[in-house]
Amino acid sequence: MAEYKIEVKTGDMQYAGTLDYIYVTLFGSEGQSERTELDNYGIDLMKGTTGTYTIKNSLPLGKLLLLKVEKDPFFVLPEDEWYCSKIEVTTPEGDVLLFPCYRWISRGELVELRGGRAMKVFEEDHPLLIDQRKKELMLKKSFYQWKILAEGLPHISHFNDASELPAEERFSKSRTTEILNDKRAIGIELKLKGMLGSSEEWESIEDMKRIFWFKKTAMSEYVTEHWKEDDFYGSQFLNAVNPNVIKRCSELPPNFPVTEEMVKPFLEEGSTLKKEMEKGNIFLHDQKKMDGLPTRNRNGVPMQVTAGLCLFYMNPENKLMPIAIQLHQKPTEQNPIFLPNDLDTDWLLAKMFIKLADVHDHEAVHHLMNNHFLGEVCTVATLRSLPTIHPLYKLLIPHFRYTLYINNVGRKDLLGPGGALRISALGYDGVVELMRRSHSETTYSSLCLPENITARGLDTIPNFYYRDDGLRLWNIINSFVKAMVECFYPSDSEVRKDTELQEWISEIFTHGFLGNKASGFPEAFNTVEEVIKFITMVIFTVSVQHAAGNNGQFDYYSWAPNGPLLLCKPPPTTKGQSSMKTVLETLPNVGETVKLAALVWLFSDDYHDMRYLGSYPEERFNEPAIKQMMEEFQAKLSCLSEAITTRNSSLEVPYPYLNPTQIENSVTI
Ligand code: FE2
Repeated sequence: MAEYKIEVKTGDMQYAGTLDYIYVTLFGSEGQSERTELDNYGIDLMKGTTGTYTIKNSLPLGKLLLLKVEKDPFFVLPEDEWYCSKIEVTTPEGDVLLFPCYRWISRGELVELRGGRAMKVFEEDHPLLIDQRKKELMLKKSFYQWKILAEGLPHISHFNDASELPAEERFSKSRTTEILNDKRAIGIELKLKGMLGSSEEWESIEDMKRIFWFKKTAMSEYVTEHWKEDDFYGSQFLNAVNPNVIKRCSELPPNFPVTEEMVKPFLEEGSTLKKEMEKGNIFLHDQKKMDGLPTRNRNGVPMQVTAGLCLFYMNPENKLMPIAIQLHQKPTEQNPIFLPNDLDTDWLLAKMFIKLADVHDHEAVHHLMNNHFLGEVCTVATLRSLPTIHPLYKLLIPHFRYTLYINNVGRKDLLGPGGALRISALGYDGVVELMRRSHSETTYSSLCLPENITARGLDTIPNFYYRDDGLRLWNIINSFVKAMVECFYPSDSEVRKDTELQEWISEIFTHGFLGNKASGFPEAFNTVEEVIKFITMVIFTVSVQHAAGNNGQFDYYSWAPNGPLLLCKPPPTTKGQSSMKTVLETLPNVGETVKLAALVWLFSDDYHDMRYLGSYPEERFNEPAIKQMMEEFQAKLSCLSEAITTRNSSLEVPYPYLNPTQIENSVTI
């Protein structure tokens, strides 16, 4: 008699256990076992438990190939879903095979699990497994389909509502409850203060400090006190939520006629703009892609989002100072170049309009499209093209946790009726056009941080913590991915003959980058090196890059004058005409302000079931060498975390967003 020991682990989340009958059948190269019920003395399959069972067969089953799990109702009780984490089988020969499951199983479902080491398609030699692999992908392709959100944008998953997603891809019940509680708390506070839905204008800047009594961070308070200061303003283009826009400037664009005379008072004594450009101390934020975008009508009047130009100077104290702002692309008399020694409120308004365009660019392009939507493209491609036994499925799937769900919900919160981007100054049409323009210009190298930093001439700019932490993280992720990929692809020829991998990258190229060859994104892989780089970029984007753009939203944007999504008056066209009253009239009204502040609260809050970069609590690999690689990855992240904490402790304005303890594995919020 051949005996197989089966260890079955039930998940530890709410309602993971089941009272239903569970049956397991083993399939081997020499036959299959009886369909065996998992039934020990007492209650089986309770939340968080591991049950041990035995399956007996008259003869050994040979090489173990597949495991089938079935669930039948317990008498007439209603559906009682079961979350199966994993099943471990010890064969009579003493081999231990891991069958990862990590999914909810419903009544009447028959789930086939692959076990043992990760396998690529050309390594399969048993007809049963070849057939199972094909069947799995066919089913997944019919279940996960592509949909076009708008022409020129990355494609999205076809689900119309998040409830259509499999249960394990939806938010856990505990996270859903936390978000609902957050929403209630915010709503009650703002309603009590009569702010929600109010169309009143702000009477003073000080009044805006009343928005949240309970929710404050050290950084959000710092912003309310320092938002007008030029050095703090400049520092935000390096170390706040949108650090990917400024470039070193060695020559002024012809449409930005800043003269030596204009900026002389703000440069080091005796220096000139020309000399500072030669030294590499001048930087530019050119918002030309905003030019001519449609905007939303507010009370029958179209709002304005300008396509400005802002010049920065890295001064001898290593502070990045804005020194000249032109709010439209074409220089005219009604489009003066504003300077720091203009009337205070003129300069302040000019800086606010630069920020207005920047906040749109940050939220719609860098955050939503380049992180959330790109994450979704890779998620759908992975689910459609790679079977669960594929090594890259096992590596990548933890980095796509909750992404389909948050994007489905988030698209409604941001782009649906009343959504944050709909009520922004650009409105839906403007935002979509901005995303379309940006996407057509997105390049592969712009998403690879080392190349991005060099291309923008920012290799040596001081106090650029986003770069410092980001590059270290890029290297740590890259060395982890390199070890993993080289383990599964010892040669380039293995890459070329992996048809599933080739289909995966082809789906991403077609549905994510819309077949745009000029983007430089790969449409096929020829070498191991290419695979390593692309997977590094994917993991970096959905974890590190998303954290950089997401986690500081409340800190920097809950104070509306520092992060406006709409400004209600046109930008200044002449100098010397504004006052603090103009600034107040330009800000969004009370209701609009609190709505946006509430959203950034939700987007930057911490939730209990977060999984941080490099943590892989779901055991998917059977190979001991892989576990070792994961441990090394975690150890390096932990060292980096200590170094960042130490660095931040001596900074007036710390940069915590890329501390690995703050970075989630995937886009989940
Ligand atoms: Fe996000």
